[in-house]
Amino acid sequence: MKDAAPASAPETFYLKDYTPFGFEVVSVELTFRLAPNATRVISKIRFSPKPGAADPTFFLHGEELTLIRAAIDGTEVTPTLTDTGLTCDVPDTPFTWEAEVEIDPEGNTALEGLYMSNGMYCTQCEAEGFRKITYYPDRPDVMSTFKVRIEGDEKVKLSNGNPTGNGAGWAEWHDPWPKPAYLFALVAGDLVNHPDSFTTRSGKEVELNIWVRPGDEGKCAFGMEALKKSMTWDEEVYGREYDLDIFNIVAVDDFNMGAMENKGLNIFNSSCVLASPDTSTDANYERIEAIIAHEYFHNWTGNRITCRDWFQLCLKEGLTVFRDAQFTADMRSAPVKRISDVIDLRARQFPEDGGPLAHPPRPEQFQEINNFYTATVYEKGAEVIGMLKRLVGDDGYSKALDLYFDRHDGQACTIEDWLKVFEDATGRDLTQFKLWYSQAGTPRLSVEESYQDGTYTLTFEQKTAPTPGQPDKAPRVIPIAVGLLGPNGDEVLPTQVLEMTEGKQSFTFEGLAAKPVPSILREFSAPVILERETTNSERAFLLAHDTDPFNRWEAGNALAREARIAMILDGAAPDADYLDALQKMLRDDDLDPAFRALVLSPPSQSNIAQALHEHGHTPDPQQIHDAAETFAQTLAEQLADSLPRLYAATTVDGPYSPDAVSTGKRDLNARILSLLTRLDGGQQAARQYEAADNMTQQYAALSCLLKAEKGAAQSQAFYDQWKGDRLVMDKWFALQIATAAPEAAAQIAQDLTGHALFTLKNPNRFRAVMGAMAGNHAGFHHASGAGYRLLAENLIALDKLNPQTTARMCAAFQTWRRYDADRQALIREQLQRIAGTDGLSRDTTEMVTRILDA
Ligand code: BES
Ligand code: ZN
Repeated sequence: MKDAAPASAPETFYLKDYTPFGFEVVSVELTFRLAPNATRVISKIRFSPKPGAADPTFFLHGEELTLIRAAIDGTEVTPTLTDTGLTCDVPDTPFTWEAEVEIDPEGNTALEGLYMSNGMYCTQCEAEGFRKITYYPDRPDVMSTFKVRIEGDEKVKLSNGNPTGNGAGWAEWHDPWPKPAYLFALVAGDLVNHPDSFTTRSGKEVELNIWVRPGDEGKCAFGMEALKKSMTWDEEVYGREYDLDIFNIVAVDDFNMGAMENKGLNIFNSSCVLASPDTSTDANYERIEAIIAHEYFHNWTGNRITCRDWFQLCLKEGLTVFRDAQFTADMRSAPVKRISDVIDLRARQFPEDGGPLAHPPRPEQFQEINNFYTATVYEKGAEVIGMLKRLVGDDGYSKALDLYFDRHDGQACTIEDWLKVFEDATGRDLTQFKLWYSQAGTPRLSVEESYQDGTYTLTFEQKTAPTPGQPDKAPRVIPIAVGLLGPNGDEVLPTQVLEMTEGKQSFTFEGLAAKPVPSILREFSAPVILERETTNSERAFLLAHDTDPFNRWEAGNALAREARIAMILDGAAPDADYLDALQKMLRDDDLDPAFRALVLSPPSQSNIAQALHEHGHTPDPQQIHDAAETFAQTLAEQLADSLPRLYAATTVDGPYSPDAVSTGKRDLNARILSLLTRLDGGQQAARQYEAADNMTQQYAALSCLLKAEKGAAQSQAFYDQWKGDRLVMDKWFALQIATAAPEAAAQIAQDLTGHALFTLKNPNRFRAVMGAMAGNHAGFHHASGAGYRLLAENLIALDKLNPQTTARMCAAFQTWRRYDADRQALIREQLQRIAGTDGLSRDTTEMVTRILDA
């Protein structure tokens, strides 16, 4: 058993300390007697001591539990209790542990363990919530089968696995697949279902249900289709079938995360499953499709094969994000998905990797594991798999995955197990590649080129800056996908993957009639920062001719970024060539509208701040904001004549459909509307708002109007129309802050925290307001410091109720050392204020300490 650490110094857990649990858990039986403030949980667990165990201590985790009684083989025992669990003398032969505990679901505002949401019981056990339900070895390498009996008057009572019986006031479930406790789930409430069924490839009938609050049953059809598509896709692409008689999804309003893959009983934040044209945007539909797929795919990558310990989290999350990205690419547009993912990686993971919170995809220590569900574990974890696949090829990848499922089904695994299947399936040595899992920081990849007598040489050099705890970095394996274009724009060398393994390395290409233009890091083949001295005319050339859609977009993105930086640093006017190239693309009807929308969407202001920082400058958020405004205004004015026509041409008429083509068109249409609004004072946006028959168009119009400060009436109308719909109200809260001018944002956000519908108890609502506050770059970083203060005050208030969501949102401060001394002082003051709060949670303490320390 671990010693209880003093509150001032939370315990740190280390990967190197891994020791298996000293007992086998043969079977688990749980009975729940539900009551809002006093639920009884009766457990009956069969333990078998492991001969020769390194650590024979019988320690069961348990937090915030009231122990009523405990017995071993029917004889009452008196265990030793601490804040984190219990120990007890036990026999050295197999025995049955019984315990009865009392818990308070209604008082559980942290939304971990068993809690109540709108009168409905639900659970969230990952990562370490099961210990708030009963005493148990709550660690992912302890796997067992569960039988669950639920007693209560609720109409619907669900748990994992297959239903085995029910009667008046009770229901029983049995999950035949051994699983760790973090995959346990229970739901009980007066729910209604949207039913369907699926026949697996081998002919097994599976009952499917999406369970929702009465009134929401009309918002399930899209999610159900996404589920069936995911089931088919995993059979076709990975050869994986579903393995129970029933698959249930439940929507809950109060949820810390997006969704959770509990075996056979996925629980979703209602924002990630409920969809209707009136209330959901295209972006919501896309997210719902992806997250349903993600949680479903976990059934194999996460549940059947799980993690040995939480340091291995990217084993399931990186892989499952990679799989859901493949799925989305197949369902929609592969280039558009790739570009969006890279935008997201740069917006969330690069700042993390370059700041005080930097950690490797497989961290080696943590205080609170909930703080490690990060962009690095998820998104970089997925990128690492993408690189692996590129190195071993599609065939190697599919052999390795088959071997992974064959070899490790039913096990709790490590990154070593994962890499070994690739080595065994392909004969490749992955020793150096493994550095991607252990080293933090984003490599910077610089390139030099030379051309002589038909031979073209690219010389790359990789460097990674020190990160907390890792001063020195070794060179990594970097797959660099390269193609070459001739002077006339034709491709003279199709994509090749160069394998860089050294700190500095050259690659030559022979027999080229003229000096080519290189297209480097196609498809963004590695998560690195590419540094290449190049000209805007070459970028414009690639934007026009590159055959790789990602790099085509990237060329435009680089042009946009450089144009913006020149405006900021040199007071330059918006770059004429770039404006010209944009206009051409905008009018090019041969190009996918979704792609055009991406080319037209400017780099975000925080992205420009990041780029300035990478170039060694101190970003000024107000200046960045002003340059963005000037640029958009200039673009609008230059396009003035064609905007009405372009707007009309991209307007999607007819009944709403969330398909990829319509979505892309509406996206482009919204960008055009935002330009048009700069010229017509919001007339077109107001007309669109009136005429809109779906949320995507209504929201886009309101967004333009608010941005132009012409949306007061529509905002009120929106509120009156939607005040009864929680998810739409989240949009209303967020949009007012997201569109606010820098000097107004904090005041608007603060006023909204006083609104009758604002509450700290609902994470979606909190994120709508505080997430939008932190996301309004110039508003959050306004020189007054009001944004920093407001966020800090609200984090301090939320921490008392919900540490997990509080801690995650502290990351808004992670980039603080990028900014000038005055802003740094203002932020430091707020971080110290949070850190100095009495009774601050372990979660938030760890985050603010890490952000302040580095
Ligand atoms: N297993 C996670 C959910 C989770 C995360 C539970 C952290 C507890 C703590 C789930 O599979 C997940 O990754 N969900 C993501 C969405 C997904 C599409 C990346 C989420 O909830 O944001
Ligand atoms: Zn996941």
